[in-house]
Amino acid sequence: MLKVTLQPVTEADLEEILELERASFQHPWSRDHILNEIYSPLSFPLLARLTDGTCAGYICPMLVLDEGQILNVAVKPSCRGKGIGRTLVAAALEEFRKRAASFVALEVRPSNAIAIALYRDYGFVATGHRKSYYENGEDAILMKLDFKGQKEEIHAV
Ligand SMILES: CC(C)(COP(=O)(O)OP(=O)(O)OC[C@H]1O[C@@H](n2cnc3c(N)ncnc32)[C@H](O)[C@@H]1OP(=O)(O)O)[C@@H](O)C(=O)NCCC(=O)NCCS
Repeated sequence: MLKVTLQPVTEADLEEILELERASFQHPWSRDHILNEIYSPLSFPLLARLTDGTCAGYICPMLVLDEGQILNVAVKPSCRGKGIGRTLVAAALEEFRKRAASFVALEVRPSNAIAIALYRDYGFVATGHRKSYYENGEDAILMKLDFKGQKEEIHAV
């Protein structure tokens, strides 16, 4: 388990987030997209830094009224498998609860077994699909964590 400190993402972190995005996704978010999330009144992106200051990961949660969404989460490849993804998801969920979210939803690739395992561990269940959601035509699995009574899982995962 790597020790990290969590802090709100600011514009000063932009280059490091861009690097994380490029290292983590085939279609990384653009500079403008990240800036929009930093300044959006609905989003509250969090950054994880190692004790030496290295940027190790980030998560982008968003709350619209009482509906939460995890838009993105990424951990630096060399820091993966050490509990940082778990720390980021736990912190986002704690903040959603504080902000009185009724539920939190997200989309994930069916091929992303690691992310699915992480979300399931926090009680997310698969509730549907989005057809051809990703750039390569891959469907998305919709997952949801209901803070007010969980629904039955569909047989998607
Ligand atoms: C998904 C991601 C954020 C997980 O971050 P991480 O720091 O490696 O995850 P953690 O070390 O906190 O592990 C959390 C859980 O994920 C799962 N997991 C992590 N690494 C795994 C592996 N190699 N194989 C299987 N499951 C794994 C396990 O359930 C693990 O819990 P456990 O340690 O109790 O077994 C990271 O792999 C990543 O950045 N991937 C690329 C970007 C991405 O796919 N983001 C998700 C978009 S929906």
